[in-house]
Amino acid sequence: MSSSKLYTTFLFSLTITLLIQTSFGAEPLFHFCSSSENFTTNSPYESNLKTLINSLIYTTPLTGFGDASVGQYQNQKAYGLALCRGDVSASECKTCVSEAPQEILNRCPYNKGAIIWYDYCMFKYLDTDFFGKIDYTNKFYMWNLKNVSDPATFNYKTRELLSQLAQKAYVNNRYFATGERKLGQSETLYGLTQCTKDLSATDCKKCLDDAINELPNCCDGKEGGRVVSGSCNFRYEIYPFVN
Ligand SMILES: *[C@@H]1O[C@H](CO)[C@@H](O)[C@H](O)[C@H]1NC(C)=O
Ligand SMILES: *[C@@H]1O[C@H](CO)[C@@H](O)[C@H](O)[C@H]1NC(C)=O
Repeated sequence: MSSSKLYTTFLFSLTITLLIQTSFGAEPLFHFCSSSENFTTNSPYESNLKTLINSLIYTTPLTGFGDASVGQYQNQKAYGLALCRGDVSASECKTCVSEAPQEILNRCPYNKGAIIWYDYCMFKYLDTDFFGKIDYTNKFYMWNLKNVSDPATFNYKTRELLSQLAQKAYVNNRYFATGERKLGQSETLYGLTQCTKDLSATDCKKCLDDAINELPNCCDGKEGGRVVSGSCNFRYEIYPFVN
């Protein structure tokens, strides 16, 4: 299946051979710097952004999700959110959301907007109000290079599991679901779905359904894969990966 060629720059495909997990998984998976204007040192935006970041580091681990805005005037106001994977502990969440903004400020030092993803969390900020809207701009795929032996059956079962988990996630109060199903005699397929809590339940479902519809582009016949956006994500593997 040809994949990345079909997509423009905003959609970047990333291949992985192995998911090497360190103890915390601290390598970022991916990031984007927004293309909007830059802020300058000592500007009101910088000050608001720093306050916003500190606030999100503090609030996000309490529930696994945080959103906030800081500032009063247009062009100075910063909006941000952070989301931890639904199964990580408060302390793992705190480690991740503390590290994320440092890394993002290295990678996108003066961008008014940026987003970064890790296994355990996502961190995003922007100079415009993006809350409650499905993020169609920031998205990437990951897949395992290994092919399954029977793609048609495997793809069908993967889609079925992820669709069930989309159903489960949007009615869950944390917009998070995990599950598994048997593949033949000895193998098991594991899946995860999650949305950011600023979305309505309907939009959470829509975001996940749209992501699942990208399975053929992302992960056709692959042993593992993810479609990850600023609003929702899924992941499946043939090994357990949640805590
Ligand atoms: C923003 O700053 C970066 C360097 O940090 C620079 O490469 C980029 O061109 C700047 N963008 C604008 C729109 O000024
Ligand atoms: C998986 O299948 C694709 C398409 O048939 C092929 O190009 C690729 O080399 C295969 N990967 C492995 C690891 O065998």
